[in-house]
Amino acid sequence: MKLLRKKSVHHINSEESAHGSLNKVLSVRDLTFFGIAAIIGAGSFSSIGSACYSGGPGVVFLFLICAVACGFTALCYAEFASRVPASGSAYTYAYVSFGEVFAWIIGWALLMEYSIGNIYVAFSWSGYFTNLLEGFSIHLPQWLTINYSEASSSFKDNIAGEGSTAWTTAPVIGGLKIIFDLPAVCINIIVTWLVYVGTKESRNASNIMVMIKLAIIALVISVGVFYIDVDNWTPFLPNGFSGVMGGVAAVFFAYIGFDAVSTLAEESKDPQRDLPRGMIYSLIICTVVFVILALILTGMVSYSELNVSDPLAEVFGKKGVKWMLFVVSIAAVVAMTSVILVFQMGQPRIWMSMSRDGLLPKQFASIHPKYKTPGFSTIMTGLVVGIPIFFTNPKFVLDFTSIGTLFAFVLVCGGVLTLPRVEKSTKEKGRFHLPYINSKFITPAIVALTFILIFYFNPNFLSEQCAISSDNAAKNIPMLVFLLVCILMAVLSFLKNLSLIPVLGLLSCCYLLTGMEASNWIWFSGWLGIGLVVYLSYGYRKSKLNIV
Ligand code: ALA
Repeated sequence: MKLLRKKSVHHINSEESAHGSLNKVLSVRDLTFFGIAAIIGAGSFSSIGSACYSGGPGVVFLFLICAVACGFTALCYAEFASRVPASGSAYTYAYVSFGEVFAWIIGWALLMEYSIGNIYVAFSWSGYFTNLLEGFSIHLPQWLTINYSEASSSFKDNIAGEGSTAWTTAPVIGGLKIIFDLPAVCINIIVTWLVYVGTKESRNASNIMVMIKLAIIALVISVGVFYIDVDNWTPFLPNGFSGVMGGVAAVFFAYIGFDAVSTLAEESKDPQRDLPRGMIYSLIICTVVFVILALILTGMVSYSELNVSDPLAEVFGKKGVKWMLFVVSIAAVVAMTSVILVFQMGQPRIWMSMSRDGLLPKQFASIHPKYKTPGFSTIMTGLVVGIPIFFTNPKFVLDFTSIGTLFAFVLVCGGVLTLPRVEKSTKEKGRFHLPYINSKFITPAIVALTFILIFYFNPNFLSEQCAISSDNAAKNIPMLVFLLVCILMAVLSFLKNLSLIPVLGLLSCCYLLTGMEASNWIWFSGWLGIGLVVYLSYGYRKSKLNIV
């Protein structure tokens, strides 16, 4: 079937040399720094607050669950990256393993991770940047520091504060209130320009930013530790495990980014060796940082005070450590700038790969003759991030990003299961190979044990899940689908001796998907539907595989 036509690894590797090449300047250290640059950002400085509020100190369990899911996924990315060292990341991997229509769907879902994710980061950046300006007594009018949709709903819902003030004080031109987040727009323009002019320049900027943010986070931790009151850690799970899972979009968002490293394959000196290392090192470092940060936050104040957009500033403010407010704001601004930078580099490279395959117009693959960057795609990314800044709101983009990215991760883990196994004798030294552990008995045992534990602790679990009503459908249906996927994977593992790591990656990402809210599923399905229409009306006809 044409929809499932595949590219071969050999085809992709030989294609890379045929196209205008990018500058190969990145080492394993650069890639690790890039990973950290992409991971520690709005999740650690903003959305961690709502996750702590929902789960209490026990949110650390969610950080660990997400770390495990991302760890397995990173190993799968690493396996792909070492076999297919091309720029398109999960998109290219799906082209090899599942076929064209899945590749397109992943490319479409990754748009959410990189571009839509950046909108959330730009909003959070703006919040901390505005704090910083206030520290220097520079006050922007409120209608220039908030997005239209938040201001309008605050006013309609009669919520006193920044949103309503912005709505009532905004100038009106042609009947339209002028309300937009000016700092968010500006940071997007600056970063787009930086990425447009060159990888090397962006790399240098990114490395410096990572060092600053790690140093400041270390300071935050070492000062915060003195203000911990261990009573705040009791109860550890104030809202039970469902409260912990309520923070899944926010916590998972914090981890997004390690995979962006794989989009830099063509700019790496030795992608097969260095990409996997860069991803895994950065993930380990960030997990340690997150768990410590969550413990510090929930130890310094009660979890119930953390539902704010700038929780790190909030806790130091509450403890009267005013000088730390300034330090935290600087760290947040620097950290988020680097996230925007890395994502803004990742998106054009995915489009470039899609365009090379004929699934997008050829301008998306054009490389700037002087700067050697994908110029047109970079500008398009700037627009895709910049325009919605004027009309979307942060909560919506956060959820949308997490669901799209998790979906892509599920396909990457599944994709690894379809790759032919590398025999021991043909393994190359210095190249990453995913360790093969036969899941024949392990997956069925894990699944059986999970079912036994579930029924032991809640004998009515299945009947509760099957009693689907309009109120609980969006929660129950994903859980039932997840249970079916568990059974399916147990059977397939037994019959086909599947490799354990991708199986666990797939199952853990599917589990995280069950925590997503109803509205996310509806928006996400709509998004995939639009993607399919675009593919059928353009990519399907123009695909290069039509002429192979
Ligand atoms: N993980 C990235 C952040 O938290 C997306 O900003």
